[in-house]
Amino acid sequence: MKICRTIDELKQWRKSQTKSIGFVPTMGALHQGHRSLMLKSKEKSELLVVSIFVNPTQFLAGEDFETYPQREDSDFAICERVGVDCLFLPTKEMMYEKDELSVLAPAVRSYTLEGTSRPGHFDGVLQIVLKLFNLVQPQYAFFGKKDAQQLSMIGHMVNRLFLPLEIIPCETVREDDGLALSSRNVYLSKTQRVDALQLSKSLRKASTMVLSNIFDTKAIIDEMHTFFEDSDDVAVEYIAIVSRSFEELSAVELQNTIIVLAVKVGKTRLIDNLWI
Ligand code: PAJ
Repeated sequence: MKICRTIDELKQWRKSQTKSIGFVPTMGALHQGHRSLMLKSKEKSELLVVSIFVNPTQFLAGEDFETYPQREDSDFAICERVGVDCLFLPTKEMMYEKDELSVLAPAVRSYTLEGTSRPGHFDGVLQIVLKLFNLVQPQYAFFGKKDAQQLSMIGHMVNRLFLPLEIIPCETVREDDGLALSSRNVYLSKTQRVDALQLSKSLRKASTMVLSNIFDTKAIIDEMHTFFEDSDDVAVEYIAIVSRSFEELSAVELQNTIIVLAVKVGKTRLIDNLWI
C-alpha cells in the first residue's frame, strides 16, 4: 500500500497509473461501513484509493471537529487488509489556504434538513470532495446511502460541473441490532447506545406501514415521533419524507422516496434513513 502524506506524493503516484481507479473519501475512524465502500470499489475498478482527512470546512462552530475520533493505526490495518493501493493522508494546511476559494452548494436543496441543522455544511463537503476528485482523478467514487443528502449533493455537483467520473451509491451497513455504523457511535454511553436503537426501530415501523399500504407521510412521521418520546436524553432534530431529490412528499412514492431523520442522543447527533 502506497502511503501519500503530501499532495506531491499523490500526484507522483497518480501520474504513473494507467489502470481504472475507484476512490473512497473518508474522515477516518474506519468501520465496516467504510470497508464495504472499499470492497465495492475493488469489485468495480482495478485500483483503490482511500483518503483520510477530517475536513475542517464542513464542521460548524461548536461541532466535534477538535474531538473527531482519530485512529490512524487501526485505519492503516483495515486499509492494508482490504488491499488499498494508495492511502492519501493530507493535512489541513495542504488542502487549504487562509483566504480560501469557496464552493457554494445549491441554496435550496442544501439548506433543508441537514442543511437547516448544519448551515454551510454541504459547502464544505463539496469543497473538499471537489479538491479530492481533482487530485485523485478517479473513474468511480463510492459514497454511502447513510449520508443520503451528501450523496445527493455530490451527485448533483458531478452532473452540473460535468466532472468525468461516476458516483456509486452504497448500502448502509448496520450492527446486528439495526444501529447504522458511524464513527460517532463511539461517543455513546451504554444507555445512549440503547436509546440510539430508536432510529432504526422507527424506520422499520415506517417500512411496515408502507408495506401495509399506508402512504400518507404525515401519518408515518407522527408514528415515528412516538419512538422518541420516552427518553429525556433524546431530541429529534427532524423526521422527514422526501423524494430522491429531497423535495418533501405528502405521499410515499415507491422507488422515489427517502425517509430521513436526525436525532440527538445526549450530545451525539445521529442520522439514519430508509430508501423506498
Ligand atoms: P465519513 O463520515 O468518514 O464517511 C465516509 C463515507 O463512508 C461516506 O460516503 C459515508 O456515507 C460512508 N458511510 C459512513 N457510515 C456508513 C455506513 N454505516 N454504511 C455505509 N457507508 C457508510 O462522509 C464523510 O466522511 C465526509 O463528509 C467526506 C465525504 C469524506 C468529505 O469530507
